[in-house]
Amino acid sequence: MATIFDNTLELPNSEIQERTKSLIGFESKFSRIYTNLKLLLDQDGLNEWSKKFHQTKLPIINQLKDKYPLIILAGDAGTGKTVSAESIADKMTRELKKEGFFLKLSTRVRGEGLHGQMGNLVNDAFAELKIQAGKRRIAFLFIDEADAIATTRSTMQMHQEEKASVNTLIQKIDEIRELHGRAVVFMSTNRLHFIDEAIIRRASIVLEFERPNKKERKELFSQSLKGIEFSEEQLDNLADLTSPEKNSNLGHSFSDIRLKILPEAVAKAFPDKSLTYEILVETISSIKPSPKIK
Ligand SMILES: Nc1ncnc2c1ncn2[C@@H]1O[C@H](COP(=O)(O)OP(=O)(O)OP(=O)(O)O)[C@@H](O)[C@H]1O
Ligand SMILES: [Mg+2]
Repeated sequence: MATIFDNTLELPNSEIQERTKSLIGFESKFSRIYTNLKLLLDQDGLNEWSKKFHQTKLPIINQLKDKYPLIILAGDAGTGKTVSAESIADKMTRELKKEGFFLKLSTRVRGEGLHGQMGNLVNDAFAELKIQAGKRRIAFLFIDEADAIATTRSTMQMHQEEKASVNTLIQKIDEIRELHGRAVVFMSTNRLHFIDEAIIRRASIVLEFERPNKKERKELFSQSLKGIEFSEEQLDNLADLTSPEKNSNLGHSFSDIRLKILPEAVAKAFPDKSLTYEILVETISSIKPSPKIK
C-alpha cells in the first residue's frame, strides 16, 4: 500500500490550513466546489434537514445522489492545481465538521507503469480509498497529472491494456457513488483535451486554473515581499512587468513568480545587499514566463 501513494494525510491539518492562507484566489475556487458538492458529501445532514423541515425523507434527496464525487482541476503549468488539492480537501472537512484522509497517488509508480499494471494500480488505489472512508470520515484520492491514466480511449496508438485501465477507472468512479459521499476523487491535468470524455462527463465540476491576473500578481508580490517597504506604484509596476502585455502575450505563472523570480532576486541580494525594487525589476527582465502547455 505504502508504495503506491506519495503521501497520506489526516485532515483537518493545521499546516495545510496555514499554507492555504498564502494561496491567492483560493476562496472563490473553493466556494464553487463546495456549493457544488456539499449536498453530495453531507447526505446524513441532508436526511436530518429533510426530517426536521419536512417531517419526511423527501424523494428529491435520492436524486441528488446521482452525481459523481469527482472533481477535475484543469489548467496550465504552475497555476496551483497540485497545491490546491490538499487545501480544498482540508477546508471541505472543516466545513462539513468531519474528519478526512487524503491519499495522493504516486506519479513515480505511474511513470514506471508497464502496460497492464495501470489497471492494478487503479484497483489498489480505490480499494484503499474504500477502506479509509468511514462514517464520520471522508476519504480523498488525488490523482495528480491524471493524463497518464485517464487519456482518451480514442487515441489510435493506445494499447489495449491502457484502454482497459481507463475502463477500470470509469468503473471505479461509478462504484464510489455507493459510498454516499464518503469518498471523493480529485484529478489534475494540464491537458484537459487528453482526458477521456466519459471521465469528464462524470465530473461534478471541472475547475479551471489560470495564470494570475494583474490584481493577483500584485497581491502575490505584496504578500511575498511583506516586511520590505515598497510603494503601491512599485508593486503595480512589478505586476505590470509580469503581465502578458509585457511578455509576448503570456504572463508569468504563480510558480514563475514564487519559485523562480523571487528566489533568484533574493539570491542576488544575499548575503551583502538588501532586496531592492531595482533587483526585482532586473530579475523579472531576465526570467521569461514558462511556456504554455498545449
Ligand atoms: N493561487 C496561488 N497563490 C499563490 N501561489 C501559488 C498559487 N498557485 C500556485 N502557487 C505557487 O506556484 C507553485 C506551483 O503550483 P502547483 O505545483 O500547484 O502548480 P500546478 O498547477 O500543479 O502545475 P503543473 O501543471 O506543472 O503540475 C506553488 O508551489 C506555489 O508556490
Ligand atoms: Mg501539478
